[in-house]
Amino acid sequence: MQLAQRVKSLTPSTTLAITAKAKALKAEGHDVIGLGAGEPDFNTPSYILDAAKRAMDEGKTKYTPAGGIPELKNSITAKLERDQGLTYTNEQIIVTTGAKHALYTLFQVMLDEGDEVIVPAPYWVSYPEQIKLAQGKPVFVSAEESNDFKITPDQLRQAITSNTKAVIINSPSNPTGMMYSKEELKALGDVCIEHDVMIVSDEIYEKLIYTDEDHVSIAQISDELYNHTVIINGVSKSHSMTGWRIGFAAGPKAVIKAMSNMASHSTSNPTSIAQYAALAAYTGSEEKVTEMKEAFKERLDVLHQRLIDIPGIECAKPSGAFYLFPNVKKAVESGGFEDVDSWVKALLDEEKVALVPGSGFGSPENVRLSYATSLEQLEKAADRIKRFVENHQS
Ligand SMILES: Cc1ncc(COP(=O)(O)O)c(C=O)c1O
Repeated sequence: MQLAQRVKSLTPSTTLAITAKAKALKAEGHDVIGLGAGEPDFNTPSYILDAAKRAMDEGKTKYTPAGGIPELKNSITAKLERDQGLTYTNEQIIVTTGAKHALYTLFQVMLDEGDEVIVPAPYWVSYPEQIKLAQGKPVFVSAEESNDFKITPDQLRQAITSNTKAVIINSPSNPTGMMYSKEELKALGDVCIEHDVMIVSDEIYEKLIYTDEDHVSIAQISDELYNHTVIINGVSKSHSMTGWRIGFAAGPKAVIKAMSNMASHSTSNPTSIAQYAALAAYTGSEEKVTEMKEAFKERLDVLHQRLIDIPGIECAKPSGAFYLFPNVKKAVESGGFEDVDSWVKALLDEEKVALVPGSGFGSPENVRLSYATSLEQLEKAADRIKRFVENHQS
């Protein structure tokens, strides 16, 4: 059978590919340190597990409304009011099967063939593929390392054409961990308003910020920006709930209604039990979220210092998420490797440390390390990377 044209150009997720290879080596008995994972290593907090168990015992195991149960939508609107000072009604919220499916559905309802979406590069791997699946065209704008991997208003303006529908803002970012300030967001937002471009604001790492800066949603800045923004968020990273698959989108009523219609014909609803678990997450204490954040901060401080001490590795310190995105160009060149991909492959083969090459994120001089693993493992990984770089000094 001939597969449909639309899937032929799909690039499999590089993150998942490296994680699979590391797992296979582990299964063969190798002592592999996986720094590829895009998920927190903590268990889901027990009060959330209890809520899920209760939901099962109470028979909450049936279809729910396509866009999510009203109680969960209420808790999301309360969260947005509490954390961002933003007011939404339940008709402006859709609960989805992870933030990923919120984005997927959003692009499906937003894009016609040839519509362009501006994607700052480096980018999270699924954005371009999801845009293409909706027959849209990703337009990459290079977020320069020298500008902390952030795009400028001029760059944004230059990338806008009559076909531009939206721009993606992912702050804090996967893979760079960088975060836009309120002033930077306002300047980008002004360009969007001027050209009537929608903003897809992916705020999934909102709770994982390690500086004194507050997270700002671009929708907070003005009523006009509120009306031009669809916020994407969820419990996966904040509450260590990646496997539960609960995310949400918040935005203009018409967009959310179209997304709910699509969900009714695709997922029917996000898993009922997981919705009750997410309800507990959004209504419960944030003590555990803070504990996880503190552990991440300690790891960031240690791993960042260890990395920048290695000759040939340069790395700006990120503000949030749980990734470091160092530039390894010099180490690759002085080691005589053809490119970063072959450097990463050799590192896995020789030292059994799994990183993700930056090429998959649109940044071929960098690698992504996730510090969602124990401090002990991170220290060991840093030792091995150092030894690898030293062994390959030409
Ligand atoms: C930037 C970004 N957006 C969205 C997602 C998807 O989150 P979820 O697991 O809730 O689908 C991820 C997950 O890695 C991410 O890094």
